[in-house]
Amino acid sequence: MAQRTPFVGGNWKMNLDRERSAALASEVVRMAATYPSVELAIFPPAVYVSAVESAVRGGAATVGGQDCSAEKEGAFTGQVSASMLANMGCSSVLIGHSERRHGLGETDATLSRKLARALEAGLLPVVCVGETLAERESGRAHDVIRTQLHGTLAGQTLNAAKLVIAYEPVWAIGTGRTATPDDAAEAHRTIRQTLADLYDVRFSESVRVIYGGSVNSKNAAELFAREEIDGGLVGGASLVAADFAVIVAAAAAKAKERSN
Ligand code: PGA
Repeated sequence: MAQRTPFVGGNWKMNLDRERSAALASEVVRMAATYPSVELAIFPPAVYVSAVESAVRGGAATVGGQDCSAEKEGAFTGQVSASMLANMGCSSVLIGHSERRHGLGETDATLSRKLARALEAGLLPVVCVGETLAERESGRAHDVIRTQLHGTLAGQTLNAAKLVIAYEPVWAIGTGRTATPDDAAEAHRTIRQTLADLYDVRFSESVRVIYGGSVNSKNAAELFAREEIDGGLVGGASLVAADFAVIVAAAAAKAKERSN
């Protein structure tokens, strides 16, 4: 059985304020102490990275950026570089979240450059892929996932242990409509097969592939019970400590099962 450490990320998106960010981060630190078998990361808005970093320092939870620039530095008003995130104590960064791919029109070519900057800065990239509803309904979901992975990952020097892929079907994000465990597991197998084609089987078996899209305290256990699913990227439910704790506990149950 795969020995991959479950990964759960709380993607706070553009929510909370400084005080509530620090308070929620402290709760996540307690969860990390309770469930040390799970790798826990918080992705706050960039301006609150510092407040969250202070709250998690010394604990087992980490902080990451929701995005980074494709550029290293320079005249790029409003952008935040990967090295700045690392400099502020971030360990990871989301690359290609659908609210950037689809919401802001970011292409695989741009995301490939962002990934390169993240790797240069020593950040663990959480690369997000996923199809729209139209793409799923026209039977192209798996082609879209393959194309996104090729376009974003090809040519990069990657360490499998320092890479997370998040399968996030666009139609499931923030909609309350979750992929069925069967559909998610099938997409995860496509992701792993694509990683094996791009690199090799050993590489693909070591990468964490997590699911995102309306994960909540009620469906997490069923999703994480699937061998293919190594954890979750959680939006709305990560803003409520009690709900997030149930999700982290579900990931810990998976870790326990894997260690048996
Ligand atoms: P959601 O968001 O859990 O609110 O659907 C997930 C994500 O966008 O990462």
